[in-house]
Amino acid sequence: MKNNNIILIGFMGSGKTTVGKILAQITGYRFVDTDEAIIAKEKMSIPIIFQNKGEEYFRKSESIELQKVITEKRQVISTGGGIVTIKENIPFLRHGTVIYLKASPEHVYRNVKKDKNRPLLQEEDVYGKICTMLKDREFLYKKAAHYTVCVDYKTPEAICNELLKLVKDSGDIE
Ligand code: S3P
Repeated sequence: MKNNNIILIGFMGSGKTTVGKILAQITGYRFVDTDEAIIAKEKMSIPIIFQNKGEEYFRKSESIELQKVITEKRQVISTGGGIVTIKENIPFLRHGTVIYLKASPEHVYRNVKKDKNRPLLQEEDVYGKICTMLKDREFLYKKAAHYTVCVDYKTPEAICNELLKLVKDSGDIE
């Protein structure tokens, strides 16, 4: 298990990218973000991909990027919040140590309420949409994850320390 990839999953606005970047810095692992990889490949923002090519196309691109990225080791991989909704992605995710950053709807809402970059949350009732989607996805995150870390009211650094302790204690990294 040593030098395993550390794969962060969780709902939009749970801090996967922020925490992932810090964790990569501390561990010396490479940081990879599947959303960023798709944006670079498509040369389009996520809202434009959703608008021009549709969600199904985005999901296919996401699966392709995941399969590509997990062929390397020593990486912290931040994934898009919907990656667990495609069941074929789960075995690929579990090539690494999968950590679910669990956030409450309130926490998510605080982080995403003014964000125009998440096409699935461009609704009048953003909080209601978050609650519904979280409810639908919660079991998928839990099923895919080796570990769950609650992020509410914690700083990215504190979350990072918790993650580091988890992966070190489990022997996943040195
Ligand atoms: C999505 C989450 C987004 C992005 C896309 C769809 C989702 O990533 O992949 O907008 O379905 O939850 P973040 O979780 O990084 O915001």
